[in-house]
Amino acid sequence: MAKRDILKFGEDALRKKCRTVTSFDERLWELLDDMAETLHGEQGVGLAAPQVGILRRAVIIDLDDGKGVIELINPEIVSQEGTQVGNEGCLSAPGEWCEVERPAKVTVKAQNRHGEEFTVSGKELLARALCHEIDHLDGILFTDRVKQDIPKR
Ligand code: CO
Repeated sequence: MAKRDILKFGEDALRKKCRTVTSFDERLWELLDDMAETLHGEQGVGLAAPQVGILRRAVIIDLDDGKGVIELINPEIVSQEGTQVGNEGCLSAPGEWCEVERPAKVTVKAQNRHGEEFTVSGKELLARALCHEIDHLDGILFTDRVKQDIPKR
């Protein structure tokens, strides 16, 4: 395992639409392991592959709640309800925090590192993290979701 460099806002890779993962092989597992090591060295709850320069649909989330890392490959939001507004940041924008509106609850369908489908439902911070990380896979940054008038990055 190795830590990878986290790209910062302004890098092209953060604005690309990522490709579907089709090979659930050692290369993917190494990426996921490296992403976990990278995340655990930072004060963050999630990391998406494009943040380490890999344009594939893979994200990890670790809420530091003792439940460990959730790996989501090819994740899709299948349902959402309600809204929540809260402060949000991103490891690609250190020190920047904005109020962002997200669904109160989401259900996400994804595959695990072996290609097996599962669903995960989350509210509060988990819902926020799922939406934030899945946005990364489509080149959407949290600052795009801010309603107040701040410059787009
Ligand atoms: Co982010």
